[in-house]
Amino acid sequence: MLYFLDTANVEDIRHCNEFYPLSGVTTNPSIIAREKKDFWTLIREIREIIGPNKLLFAQTVQSKAEKMVEEAKLLNERSGGEFCIKIPISEEGLKAASILKKQGIHVLMTAIFTPAQALIAAKSGADYVAPYVNRLDNIIADGTNVVAEIVKQFETYPLPCQVLAASFQTAEQVHKCAAAGCHGVTVSADILKAVINYPMTDSAVLHFDADWKSVYGDKTILDF
Ligand code: E4P
Repeated sequence: MLYFLDTANVEDIRHCNEFYPLSGVTTNPSIIAREKKDFWTLIREIREIIGPNKLLFAQTVQSKAEKMVEEAKLLNERSGGEFCIKIPISEEGLKAASILKKQGIHVLMTAIFTPAQALIAAKSGADYVAPYVNRLDNIIADGTNVVAEIVKQFETYPLPCQVLAASFQTAEQVHKCAAAGCHGVTVSADILKAVINYPMTDSAVLHFDADWKSVYGDKTILDF
């Protein structure tokens, strides 16, 4: 199971990269625009935090395959480490994916809403597909079930494509995607924190602390 952080906010990236087992950072044009910074400066800042070995995803803003390929190559050269281009699914996007596959550039096909879209993206050479779980849930279309169907399809037709589920509003959605066997999720810092948050854990830790202090006061194991 891979965890990616779906943000371009450097404070969130710095925090989550320190405390969570992140495999990298995903962005899209909306996420980048939210930070209101120079594009390359932001890419450099993110790379400095995550280092060269973690995957950085950025999305093309082109609509023609040849231009998508050009942007992907530039980003791949200048991103400073492991990189994957995000391309929204379309005819032009499928064409770009198959060209980039031959050139050894990783592709994530994004804005996936159906298992049929995911299958054809994988067949065109995408290394990852990103189904949008919460946006499907918002139209009562069962996002986690779509993820489960995509996972099953990739088992039926063995294709070297991973399901990187995206668009989350709850920790429950993340849990259900993991139970469905998706290969990874990309989530905000808030959702990542919600995944480990559990009130009974807090009360268990308070109890351990009180029991210890009742006998040893403020001494820690390092003081013995
Ligand atoms: C994934 O590729 C998208 O960048 C993202 O996860 C969409 O999330 P949203 O529906 O919360 O905008």
